[in-house]
This record gives sequence, C-alpha cells and structure tokens, in this order.
Amino acid sequence: MKHLSALALASITVLPVHAALYTNPADLPSKNYDFIVIGAGTAGSVVASRLSEDPTKKILVIEAGVDDTGNLNVQVPFFAPFAANTAVDWNYTTVPQPGLNGRSIKVPRGFVLGGSSAINYLAWTLGSKDYYNKLASITGDAGWGWPSMQEFFKRVSTLVPPTDNPTITPDQIPHSNGNGPVHVNLPNIDLEPDQRFITTAKALGSSSSPNLKRFNYTTDKNTGNSLGLGYTQVTAGGGTRSTAATSYLRPALQNRKNIDVVINTRVTRLVKNAQEGLVPVFRAVEVAISKGGKKRMFEASKEVVLSAGTIGTPQILLLSGIGPQADLGSKTVVNAPQVGKNVRDHPLLSIFYNVNSNRTYDDALRNSSLRNVDLTEWLTTKEGLFSASPGNLMGLLRLPKTFFTPSRPDPASGPSAPNIELIFVDGFVPSDTNPLPAAGHFMSIICAVVSPTSVGTIKLPSSNTDTFTQPLIDYNVLGTDFDVQAMLQAIADAQTFVEVNITTTKGGKKENEFTKDDYLQSLFGAFASAKTTADKIAFIRAHADTVHHPVGSARMGSIKTGYEDGVVDPRLRVGGVKGLRVVDASVLPIIPEAHTQAVVYTVAERASDLIKQDNGM
Ligand SMILES: Cc1cc2nc3c(=O)[nH]c(=O)nc-3n(C[C@H](O)[C@H](O)[C@H](O)COP(=O)(O)OP(=O)(O)OC[C@H]3O[C@@H](n4cnc5c(N)ncnc54)[C@H](O)[C@@H]3O)c2cc1C
Ligand SMILES: *[C@@H]1O[C@H](CO)[C@@H](O)[C@H](O)[C@H]1NC(C)=O
Ligand SMILES: *[C@@H]1O[C@H](CO)[C@@H](O)[C@H](O)[C@H]1NC(C)=O
Ligand SMILES: *[C@@H]1O[C@H](CO)[C@@H](O)[C@H](O)[C@H]1NC(C)=O
Ligand SMILES: *[C@@H]1O[C@H](CO)[C@@H](O)[C@H](O)[C@H]1NC(C)=O
Ligand SMILES: *[C@@H]1O[C@H](CO)[C@@H](O)[C@H](O)[C@H]1NC(C)=O
Repeated sequence: MKHLSALALASITVLPVHAALYTNPADLPSKNYDFIVIGAGTAGSVVASRLSEDPTKKILVIEAGVDDTGNLNVQVPFFAPFAANTAVDWNYTTVPQPGLNGRSIKVPRGFVLGGSSAINYLAWTLGSKDYYNKLASITGDAGWGWPSMQEFFKRVSTLVPPTDNPTITPDQIPHSNGNGPVHVNLPNIDLEPDQRFITTAKALGSSSSPNLKRFNYTTDKNTGNSLGLGYTQVTAGGGTRSTAATSYLRPALQNRKNIDVVINTRVTRLVKNAQEGLVPVFRAVEVAISKGGKKRMFEASKEVVLSAGTIGTPQILLLSGIGPQADLGSKTVVNAPQVGKNVRDHPLLSIFYNVNSNRTYDDALRNSSLRNVDLTEWLTTKEGLFSASPGNLMGLLRLPKTFFTPSRPDPASGPSAPNIELIFVDGFVPSDTNPLPAAGHFMSIICAVVSPTSVGTIKLPSSNTDTFTQPLIDYNVLGTDFDVQAMLQAIADAQTFVEVNITTTKGGKKENEFTKDDYLQSLFGAFASAKTTADKIAFIRAHADTVHHPVGSARMGSIKTGYEDGVVDPRLRVGGVKGLRVVDASVLPIIPEAHTQAVVYTVAERASDLIKQDNGM
C-alpha cells in the first residue's frame, strides 16, 4: 500500500498537466497557445519567462537546439571557446570575405537552450548612455533611451561574489547590476597580468597626456559611461556560467504550469493564417524535426514572437515570404526590403607577447593531466583556473582625437561610447586557426573595433527553400578604410599600454609594470615582423575574425515613418503584417559599442513590457 501511493505520487510529479520540456513536437499537449516564442535563446528565454508571469496565458517556446543539461562546455567558464563546433553550435560560416583576403570565417551561434548566452565568452557590458539615446533618436521612441533602459537593465542581473579572488577590494566592486536572475561576477581567480594591468591603468588615468589618459582605470563599464580599463564582469556565479536558460527559462519551467518548451524542433516558416482587411495575419508556425520530415503547425491566439537571433530571424522571415521582393520574387507575401540588410559585427585580432611565467593557460591546454587537475578542482570546489572566463581584463577606449577628420568622422554613438576594445588574456588565444605553439608562455591582447562602419547582409541561397540549409552570411568584415585604420590604432594602443610607459631603470634595463620581473618578453608570431603599415594591414587581413556580435538584420525603424525604414516598428512589431514581433539582437539598428548580450537581455526586458501592454496584461 505504502509502495503504491509512492508510485502514484511519482507519476503525478513526472507527468505535469501543462509545463514541461518536450523533446519532440508530437508530444506537445496542445496546438494552440496564447503566445509562441521562436528560439529559447537569450532574448526568447527572457520574453517567455516574463509572459508566463500571467498564469492565464499559455506560452509555447520552440527551440531548434539541444538540452543544456550537464554540458561542461556550457557550464565551465574557461571552456567557453571550446563550445564552438560541438553539439551546441549551429556551425555556420560566412561567405568569402574580401576584407579578409577572401577567407570564410566561422560563425558560432548557440544551438541549445539559452542560445548564444550558453556559448559566448561571458563578458558583461551594457554599452554607453549615448548608445541608448541614439536608439531613441533613430526610433523616435524615448523608451529606448538611457533613463528608461537603465531601469530595464536592473531587472536582468545581480552581482555575486567571485569564488576565489582575494585580491579584489571593496572599492573595485561595480554597482550597476540590479536584482535580476542572471548572475554576474568579477574574475573568479587572480591571474598574472591582472595587477600589472590595473596598476598601469590607474597610473595612466592620472597622466597629463590626453592620449595616455584614454587608458583610464574604471571599476564599472555599465554605468552609462563605458570608457576605461578594468576587470571584466562576466555572466557566472559560484564558478558556473549563468545563461538565459539557467536564469530565466528553467525557473519558469520549474515554477509555472503555463509554459511548454520543445527542443530539437526547427521552425521551418511562419504561416499566414488570416487576413485583416488588406493586412496578412501571421499567427501560425510550421515546424519539422528533420529536413524533409513531417511538418506540424501551431497557432498563437495573441502573438508569435520571433527570437531566433541575427542569423535565424531573417532566415525564417525570408522563408516565410517576408523580405525584399527584389530577392524573393514570386515567393513574396510581404515586401520588406530591410530584412537581412544592415548586418554589422565587430572585427577582432589577437597579438601575442612571450611572457616569463608558468601561470598562464598554455600548459593546461597542452597537458591533459594538468588539465584534469584543473577540471577536478572545478568539479569539486568550482574554483581555480577553469572557474574564470579566459578574459579577466578589458578596456573600452575612444580613438585619439587626432584620428578623426572631416573625411573620417567618428561613427560612435557619442562621446561616452568607445571606438575600440582591448582584451587581455593570460595565454595564447589566436583570432584565426593558428595552433597553440608547442612551447612557451604567452599573454594575448585581443584588439577589436567596436564602432565599425562596414555593413553586410544575410540572404537565402537562390536554391534554398528550407530552414535546414544555412543562409548566406556576409558580414563584410573590414570592408571600410575606417575599420582597418581603427584596427591599426587599436593594435598600436595595445602596444603602448604594455610597452611605452617605461618608468624605472633597473640594472641598466628600463622597466614598467609589465616588464618588471622580466615578465613581458617580446612580441610573438607574424606580427613581430610586420614593420610597415602595409605589413600590418596585411597581417590584419590575414588573421582577423569577429567578436561574434552580429546585429541589425531585422532593424527597428522609426515612429515617424511607421516601420518602413526598418523591419519592425519601435514596439518591435513586424511591419505590414499582424500578430508577429521580433525580439532579439537583429532589431538593433546600430551596433552597440560593447559586447552584445547585456544589450539583448535588456532589450528583451523592455520588449516583454511592450508585449504585455499591447495585450492588456
Ligand atoms: C562565440 C560567441 C562569443 C560571444 N561572446 C560574447 C561575450 O563575451 N559577451 C557578450 O555580451 N556577448 C557575446 N556574444 C554575443 C551574444 O551572446 C549574443 O549577442 C546574444 O546572445 C544574442 O542573443 P539573441 O537572443 O539575439 O540570439 P541567440 O541567443 O543566439 O538565440 C537564438 C535562438 O534561436 C534558436 N533558433 C534559431 N533558428 C531557429 C529555428 N529555425 N527554429 C527554432 N529555433 C531557432 C537558436 O538555436 C537560439 O537558441 C558572443 C556570441 C558568440 C556566438
Ligand atoms: C555542429 O557540429 C557538431 C560537431 O560535428 C555536431 O555535433 C552538431 O550537431 C552540429 N550542429 C548542427 C546544428 O548541425
Ligand atoms: C607609467 O606607469 C607608472 C606606474 O606603473 C606611473 O607611475 C607613471 O606615472 C606612468 N607614466 C605616465 C607617463 O603616465
Ligand atoms: C577616469 O576614471 C575616473 C573613475 O571612473 C573618472 O572619475 C574620471 O573622470 C576618468 N577620467 C577620464 C579622463 O576619463
Ligand atoms: C613555475 O615557475 C616557478 C618560478 O619560476 C618554479 O619555481 C616552478 O617550478 C614552476 N612550476 C612548474 C610546474 O613548472
Ligand atoms: C603535465 O602535468 C603533470 C601534472 O602537473 C606533470 O606531472 C607533467 O610533468 C606534465 N607533463 C609535461 C609533458 O609537461
């Protein structure tokens, strides 16, 4: 008897009435929901979780990718770069890039619950107040401006203490995070370059030279003024990565009965299921689990929210006949010329120094028994080398004033927005496929242009009629002279920071924070022999990649013109149709001068409010 009632209880807990993670759309309990969210990625997880706060509404989330449970590449902060080209990646590549000597580069995107927040490099930067105020001016909607967005940001994250970093002092704690579900911390471990970097930045900030003052130390890049150098805030807590799935989606699944999530299921297209006057209504979603496999249809009584990301969102719109008539021809249902246009990403390039230290990542990468020691430490205490992302230190900088001329104006959103970024890594991190050298220890400086002017596209291949074939991704990396010149300056700035500030002479040798104790040795690799500007540009084109921050492929238009200069209006409703919104990185009409995840989370928080308002919730 006792035995039986235990069984009955068990069957109740494993078979919920409504609210579960499904692995096959055939098992879903219903074909009709109030809202259907496409993509359980960064933005989709936020929107689904916020909409499910209303217990009277039923939410379906459709995700193409896999379960995130127990995946060390997702959980271990240090493993972030190793998630690409595994089960949790879409494995896209770009078309050949003329600015990269015709190379095609990899385009990692999260194919997993949590989307790209589960495979990114964890950096947590919100962007500047000027960025948001420019969004407000482009869209004509003050709600995208800094005063408003600052409040939405506070709903997203909470700062938690690092697991293993006694060097961080109370005056280094950032205060911009609020009380949201995403865990953010300062670096979990102190590494060799860290104190050298911070001491140098503090010193240069009080320099009388405006050029050196740009390297000012800052404790917090998320206050609206994002300029300066300091610790990287990362999306981790207790030594483990925090994703949109762990923070937003799974708690909603666990605690609520009105949300269903189905994984391993690809949206193949949106379907017009009604017509209101002249306006087509898109409240139906077709899915399949394999190429040519059985199609199933789900319907939303309120709205379909497309959150498939900068690559997936335009792909789905185009496959649904929503896009430029010039490309879609007779398949056009709605002519939306901006779909897949205006794509931007940040170019990135690594340079390396040999260092005299064995406290770098390099040995752990070369030596599997050392790696197992680090992994055991992470598994048992969540501390040590693997508890930190590979980049403890970063700086966001303006280009020197003299860089800008009437023919080369500043493309950044405003004076509080940076142009370039420097990320310092305690080991060898190449921006191309160069393997780790067999011997030696390294410090890498990853240089990026965060206010690029190159613009690219996402298109369907001419023969493509299905969602299982990758779209044509063209970022047009380093397609403008500005981007190349800004990259040259970023590299020069990286060298200045570690080399030029020579302060003392010791035994006939000049020293600074990086060269003392003979730590910093010489430039390593092909860049060391690039002497002329032409050599350096050739090096850049041969080795650059991007930071994987693409935005803009379904950009917001302005209130003044309706949606016509964009794909969505400032309330993120797709123009020319009813029942359909886009909420993800694709709606950003300009690229943040920052890593993009915090921006996407914050946009998704505001979008959730807009959807609730428009549906009387
Ligand atoms: C390798 C890498 C490193 C990065 N590093 C950083 C960093 O350090 N800091 C930072 O701030 N940002 C970083 N980013 C960028 C940041 O992660 C993204 O800007 C952000 O996560 C994008 O959110 P999103 O909601 O637009 O898209 P995503 O989070 O990618 O979500 C889109 C979701 O839609 C799903 N989907 C797509 N198509 C379909 C379909 N047809 N059917 C069903 N589901 C579909 C996808 O599987 C995915 O889960 C990085 C990104 C990558 C890839
Ligand atoms: C990406 O490649 C990995 C490794 O080959 C594979 O496991 C994964 O399924 C691929 N992703 C997709 C979306 O096909
Ligand atoms: C260089 O850095 C040191 C500390 O590392 C500092 O004392 C000095 O003022 C800096 N020099 C300049 C020119 O800023
Ligand atoms: C340097 O940073 C400090 C602290 O964030 C700030 O008060 C100061 O204005 C900054 N100086 C410059 C030149 O940016
Ligand atoms: C690391 O370097 C220190 C000091 O140079 C040395 O004492 C130690 O043996 C080295 N450790 C390893 C594992 O090589
Ligand atoms: C690899 O690391 C282990 C554990 O620290 C060490 O004993 C061994 O000597 C290392 N092997 C090499 C080839 O350096």
